Amino acid sequence: MQIHWTEKLVAVIASGLLLSFLAALIAGYYFYDLDVADCVTDVPLFSKGEVHQIFDPTNYRSKYEVKVVAKMWTFDPPVIEVVAGSDIDFYLTSTDVIHGVIIQGTNVNLMAVPGVVNFARLSFDQPGEYSFLCHEYCGSGHQSMAGKFVVKSNEGVYRPGDIATAPVAISSAALAGRALLDKNGCLACHSLDGTPILAPTFKGIFGRTQSLSDGSNIVIDEAYLKDSILHPTAKMVKGYQPLMPQMNIPESDLQAIVDYLKSMKVGTP
Ligand code: CUA
Repeated sequence: MQIHWTEKLVAVIASGLLLSFLAALIAGYYFYDLDVADCVTDVPLFSKGEVHQIFDPTNYRSKYEVKVVAKMWTFDPPVIEVVAGSDIDFYLTSTDVIHGVIIQGTNVNLMAVPGVVNFARLSFDQPGEYSFLCHEYCGSGHQSMAGKFVVKSNEGVYRPGDIATAPVAISSAALAGRALLDKNGCLACHSLDGTPILAPTFKGIFGRTQSLSDGSNIVIDEAYLKDSILHPTAKMVKGYQPLMPQMNIPESDLQAIVDYLKSMKVGTP
């Protein structure tokens, strides 16, 4: 039996199309880094929600690791506070049935599956509140299963090149101390204006009565400042995490920094 030429033509076009799709897939994989969506992680399973802020002093941005547990019929934690512009690594699991999440203001759409940790990276450019909802019917309380991101402005978060105006007249030696704070990245975590970042503010630090994590109270003096710069985790201020790296600062620099901090007395504006 003869094959009609139109049938041959259709067969040739169809095969040509298949081959071109295959070529596009291969080209995409090798030249454009396209890959199968990869949202399943090897992060160990967790059963409690957590928000971790990680500060990257090299580019002065915050990063967050957020672990969220979906369960009938809430998200743990229900409210997540972050700073605008930060990268947020969002890990999601469930401790009972299958849930899901969509996050307003992003294109994140994940399933929350028991026994599996799913992942998405997101960020919010603008401060505000962004809801997230369960989008997988999970029982009688499904419609109330929601949470929100509270995105704070990143103003007041130190960036390189920001020059804070000194509140009081200070000596040139102390000004050198101010420059050293810049150079060593101290102002990424210690603000000068009273804003808590990841560490106690330098505003009014000298002479302040401070509660420490061991329950004692001290008055901050020169010895404590030097000691805290050289051994940051030895006498921790209450309420803060031991995040500060061991600093290697020569004695002369240390004195200049402390002189500058002494100018930030209690009660100075
Ligand atoms: Cu959880 Cu619907």
